[in-house]
Amino acid sequence: MNTLTIDIRKAEPRDASAIAEVHQQAWRGAYSGIIPHRTLTSMINRRGVDWWANAIRRAATVLVVEIGGTVAGYATIGKNRARELRQQGEIYELYLRPEYQGIGLGSRLFKAAKARLADHGLRGLVVWALEDNHNALAFYAGNGGRDIAEGVEVFEQKALKKVAFVWND
Ligand SMILES: CC(C)(COP(=O)(O)OP(=O)(O)OC[C@H]1O[C@@H](n2cnc3c(N)ncnc32)[C@H](O)[C@@H]1OP(=O)(O)O)[C@@H](O)C(=O)NCCC(=O)NCCS
Repeated sequence: MNTLTIDIRKAEPRDASAIAEVHQQAWRGAYSGIIPHRTLTSMINRRGVDWWANAIRRAATVLVVEIGGTVAGYATIGKNRARELRQQGEIYELYLRPEYQGIGLGSRLFKAAKARLADHGLRGLVVWALEDNHNALAFYAGNGGRDIAEGVEVFEQKALKKVAFVWND
């Protein structure tokens, strides 16, 4: 029997192409039929290997979850951007390859991201998800998040509601 090791760690420049692939597959899976096709395609195309390599080298904190040597997902984390919310940390993105969803890796990555933000001295955490992304809403509620605020994001003249989930320490 093979033992698959699961490792959650900071991304390195060599992970850029795997993360670009995860990003493309996860965003297509999650947002096709929600975000207009043209906008979604250009959002995905903007985030190629070079974009990710840059993000990893710069200040952004990118985490990856690796299972049996394959990068199955990533999260980006940092300071909360919404001034009206008092939580100091934010998970900007958390995405898994479609074939690795639903087996607990998202929850593990979420907990690791939350712990890392706390290690950086950031108290409390916020995550935004599109209201139409029902899996994401169930996921954050299931991981103890409280939906506290709403916002709107406009994609090619299509206004989509987003929901903020928060965790307080
Ligand atoms: C949302 C996501 C990060 C969750 O990670 P995951 O590893 O699939 O989730 P887990 O296996 O840890 O599941 C935890 C809970 O999430 C919910 N959930 C996860 N996948 C789900 C699915 N496909 N359908 C319904 N609920 C789901 C369930 O409530 C589950 O609770 P349970 O274990 O009691 O059933 C992952 O599915 C993903 O990347 N989805 C596509 C991209 C996305 O929507 N990202 C979030 C953007 S804000």
